[in-house]
Amino acid sequence: MIVSTSPRQTVPPAFVPVGRRLSNGDSQRSVFARVAPLIGFVPFMTEKSREMLDRSGPNKSAVPRLSENDGSSFRADSRHPVRPRPAFARFGTELFWHDPRSNPCAPTDLQALTTVLIQRPDIRLSNVLAGLSYALDLTEGQREGHAIRSCLIGMRIARELRLPSELQSALFYALLMKDLGCSSNAARFAVLFGADDHRVKADLKTTDWPRALDAFRFVARNVAPGQFWLTRAFQLLGVLTRGPEGAREVVRTRCERGADIARMLGFHDDTVQAIRALDEHWDGAGQPYALRGDQIPLLARILGLAQTAEVFFTSYGVEPAYDMAVARKGSWFDPAILEAFLAFRTDSEFWRALAEDNVQAHVTQIEPADRILVADDDRLDRVAEAFALVIDAKSPWTFQHSRGVAATSVAIAEVMGYPDEQVREIRRAALLHDIGKLGVSSLILDKPAALTEGEFQVMRRHPVATREILMRTGCFRHLAGAAASHHERLDGSGYDLGLQRSELPMLTRVLCTADMCDALRASRPYRSSMPLERVMEVMRREAGNAIDPTCFEALQIAIHDETLDRQSASEVPAVRLVSALAEDYRQAA
Ligand SMILES: [Fe+2]
Ligand SMILES: [Fe+2]
Repeated sequence: MIVSTSPRQTVPPAFVPVGRRLSNGDSQRSVFARVAPLIGFVPFMTEKSREMLDRSGPNKSAVPRLSENDGSSFRADSRHPVRPRPAFARFGTELFWHDPRSNPCAPTDLQALTTVLIQRPDIRLSNVLAGLSYALDLTEGQREGHAIRSCLIGMRIARELRLPSELQSALFYALLMKDLGCSSNAARFAVLFGADDHRVKADLKTTDWPRALDAFRFVARNVAPGQFWLTRAFQLLGVLTRGPEGAREVVRTRCERGADIARMLGFHDDTVQAIRALDEHWDGAGQPYALRGDQIPLLARILGLAQTAEVFFTSYGVEPAYDMAVARKGSWFDPAILEAFLAFRTDSEFWRALAEDNVQAHVTQIEPADRILVADDDRLDRVAEAFALVIDAKSPWTFQHSRGVAATSVAIAEVMGYPDEQVREIRRAALLHDIGKLGVSSLILDKPAALTEGEFQVMRRHPVATREILMRTGCFRHLAGAAASHHERLDGSGYDLGLQRSELPMLTRVLCTADMCDALRASRPYRSSMPLERVMEVMRREAGNAIDPTCFEALQIAIHDETLDRQSASEVPAVRLVSALAEDYRQAA
């Protein structure tokens, strides 16, 4: 591979002129050692690098071991060594040689980016999605495990109804993934109400919102909390003047987005349609299409009852959940499905299990045994891509951030010579690195001014949530530590752990570099985007102090090789969406 660069580009120190390298008669190296890179021979990883995977220390979680029953296992580098890819690079008219092993800036010998997942046929998709469903619970402002408990309730209803296993399988995944679209209206909720979107959404779940009086009370208690009464009055007026059509549009955004992502994940059409009609009501007073009775897909009717019952059960207990369901018979809920729900009212063992902390352990047991879906490599890629869409939809300012960081990380890793299987792992880590941001209020994420100390503290917690969520998923667990360290810095000034240089694995260093690059290239509420030249200037000052110089060099090569788009793709849609939100601000005020 020959990497072409701009004639104006400064030659990074790790790049050696080919003429000098071949003619300097380096007495420390044999002729073979000098010629070997040119014919593609590269040595395997050093013993020191191998030790990286077994080391203990503060960032041990970067390369966690999995127990046998996780449904996945990991390949050690001794069997699948990292083979660096030396490459030629052209700076102006001169040809240079870049050998990642001999890079004087490298903190260690070439390290494995990460352990690599070995596919086994028993990695169950349900296990992966159950872990990731905690991110959706966060976005909805629900207690952790909400989607899983809804799944257990809905599947119990399905058994009472004796649904065929094909339908039960479609229902199972619809229940787990029912909130895939939840992040897409978070910013709008925050703007309309001038409030934390999580609190507004959580309160909405226990409100009988088709009833006008209940809807008014809901709006009145949620607009601009803690603000001066006049501000609250204006905010209230802004919401009310939008009326049912305004509410319909917010719900439609969520339902359509959720259905689209479910379709992208390759689910059965019954699953997709159930997610799309999640908020429809039996009497036609639901949203967004006011479907009535049998017009609502059967699985959506089960979803609606299961999710509402779960919220009441978790908030108030079993009997209040049943009281709510009976009171809404024929309005919210299909009477036939309600009968099936009533059939296990006195099953105390079922309800006790639902209240346990380890509720995730029950999920795989209720997937129809003859319809178990496994997660192969392609499917795991799709899952990571799907959740990147969920993450990026949370804020119009980060409209394509996760995918941008993934593309940049891949470009850096490829220039550095990592093999395809490791590049695949880093792409997944990059797609999911900000999943913890789903737990941060849109009021903070989209604030068009400097954050207060308290808000900054909340923001600094998002890597913690990333770590916790990924640790729940068997197959992404080995990436949790590194993905959650993407705001750490070489000089120890990063967050949330303040790790030091020696504690940052190469995967983290690549992610940090890519994350900084994408963030600087995109617009933010408090500043506009930077041109690429300026971004490189800023990052060059950080190389060696905050970010890894080798990764930065690789980034420069990738940009000049045009592996990476020079124009940030995230700017245009973000600006358009932000304009729409600004319009909301004006109207709400
Ligand atoms: Fe982040
Ligand atoms: Fe990020």
